[in-house]
Amino acid sequence: MKIHPIIIAVEGIDGAGKSTQIPRIAQWFREHGQRVSLSCEPTHGPIGMKIRTAEVRWPPDVERQLFVDDRKEHIETCLKPALDRGEIAITDRYFYSSIAYQGTRLDAFDHTPTQRELEDLQDQIYQQHLTFAPEAAILIYIRLAVDVALERMKSSREGLDPFENRQNLERVAHAFERIITRHPCPITADASLPPDQVTARIWEQLDALFG
Ligand code: TYD
Repeated sequence: MKIHPIIIAVEGIDGAGKSTQIPRIAQWFREHGQRVSLSCEPTHGPIGMKIRTAEVRWPPDVERQLFVDDRKEHIETCLKPALDRGEIAITDRYFYSSIAYQGTRLDAFDHTPTQRELEDLQDQIYQQHLTFAPEAAILIYIRLAVDVALERMKSSREGLDPFENRQNLERVAHAFERIITRHPCPITADASLPPDQVTARIWEQLDALFG
C-alpha cells in the first residue's frame, strides 16, 4: 500500500475526545509504515498563544483574522514542511474550525442572525481559506451530540448562560455537519461510544480508504 503525504484534519466540538483519538490515528499511520507530524490550532506560536491566553473574546472580525494569521504561519512553518519531508501531517483542528466557530459568530446588530446569514458567512470563510490553505485530504470528524457535550462541559462552563451555550453549540455542530457533507473525504465517528470503539470506527474507515 502506498500512502502519499497528506494533511489530515481532526475536528469536533469541545469535549468530543480529539486528544484521545489523535495519538491513535497517528498510531494507525505508523503501523502502516508512515512517518507522522502532529500539530494543532490554535498553535503554540506567538499568534496562537495570543488567542489561547486572551481573557475576553476579541470582536468577531479581529478573532477571525487572528485564527487566519495563526493558520498561515502553521501552514508555512509546519504543515507544508511536513509534507515536503514525506510525512502524514495530522492537525488537531484546521480551517474547518474557523468555518464552524467564527462562522457562527455574527454581529447582526438589530436581530438574531438567521441560519441563511450564518451559512453565507461560513461559505465566505471557506472561500477565503481556499486562497491560501490546502484542503485536508481527509477530515476526521468526531461527532458529539450537543446534550452530551453540555454534560461533559458542565463543571468547566459554570457561569455561562445555559441557553446561549446550547444555542451556540448547536450552531457550531450544524456548521460541522454542513462541512462534512461537502468535504471530498470525511471520516466520522460517534463520540458517545467508549473511546476504544471510537478508535475502532476510525481505523475501519482508514482501512477501507487505504486497504
Ligand atoms: P481546542 O482544540 O479545544 O484546544 P485545546 O484543547 O488545546 O484548548 O481549541 C480551542 C478553542 O479554539 C476551541 O473552543 C475552538 C476554538 N477555535 C476557533 O474558534 N476557531 C479556530 O479556527 C480554531 C482552530 C479553534
